[in-house]
Amino acid sequence: METSPVLFYAGPHLLSFLALVLLYVVSSPCSASLFFNFYGASCPTAELIVANTVRSASSSDPTVPGKLLRLVFHDCFVEGCDASVMLQGNGTERSDPGNGSLGGFQVIDSAKRMLEIFCPGTVSCADVVALAARDAVAITGGPELQIPTGRRDGRVSAAANVRPNIIDTSFTMNEMINIFTAKGLSLEDLVVLSGAHTIGSAHCSAFSDRFQLDSKGKRTLIDSSLDRNYADELMQRCPVHASDSITVVNDPGTSSSFDNQYYQNLVAHKGLFQSDSVLLDDKRTRALVEDFANDQERFFQSWGQSFLKLTSIGVKTGEEGEIRQFCSVTNG
Ligand code: HEM
Repeated sequence: METSPVLFYAGPHLLSFLALVLLYVVSSPCSASLFFNFYGASCPTAELIVANTVRSASSSDPTVPGKLLRLVFHDCFVEGCDASVMLQGNGTERSDPGNGSLGGFQVIDSAKRMLEIFCPGTVSCADVVALAARDAVAITGGPELQIPTGRRDGRVSAAANVRPNIIDTSFTMNEMINIFTAKGLSLEDLVVLSGAHTIGSAHCSAFSDRFQLDSKGKRTLIDSSLDRNYADELMQRCPVHASDSITVVNDPGTSSSFDNQYYQNLVAHKGLFQSDSVLLDDKRTRALVEDFANDQERFFQSWGQSFLKLTSIGVKTGEEGEIRQFCSVTNG
């Protein structure tokens, strides 16, 4: 068979071009030296192992995805995305009351145990936390994302760092903006990432500041930005002497689906936390809330970008930090 000279000469060039493209895709730095497919050679099954662990944990306990998604927020905002939130012990981030209602730790630990069997000393807990949150979103119907990896685990975890870096539901818009800005995140990121409250649940204490006790010891609404019927439902779910363990779903109706219902709730004045409601009340963010309420695709697209920024905050790479053997303790 005669080979066309064009093809003959174009072939090798085309091949080397494709090889270059492939090399770029496989190893392109995304942010601060994280790379897509970082474990492609050292642990090709890493992402699959995490995804399978998250899937099986979520199918036996539907509260798992919400917990994993919140965990990455609390990890990344304190000391960067370095699994500092996973470390156990006196005075660690995890021991701070502000992190008392976090969960999902066992899921991260069990993915890591599996990874240590297949690829010992290779995959960081910080990457497991980020990948698990990414998978939690996909499992609940949200966008399926590729995220870069190569985070290293931190050796510092201090309870004292939690309060100054984690946003409380009572914060004003300006206070929230200040913390987001300090992490390199924008006002748009604040609106987008708050959309995480489309899944999961909250303890009554997380929004009790929207109510007060009247002279008869009954709860009444003091936050006029909240829909009256919704407020009544919340008061019923959280009676005055309710047990501390009672929870309320963040997004009634579709609390296990990652969708744009959260924004529709906000527009209907049914944001659970004051920090949610303020996104509709503040004129700087209202239009975006309305856009997302009307257009799930737009929310999903923005989610991809903001989630990437969230999971890149203050990452340790290269020779920094370590690859922990167990996520709850630093190495030796
Ligand atoms: C912007 C300020 C934010 C505030 C004030 C806030 C506050 C809270 C609070 C108080 C809870 C309830 C905790 C409980 O009582 O168990 C909660 C739950 C949750 N938060 Fe946020 N959050 C914020 C942003 C975020 C971000 C950026 C994410 C992730 C990207 C996130 C993800 C979640 C998830 C998934 C839950 C449900 C947790 C579960 O089901 O266990 N939050 N948040």
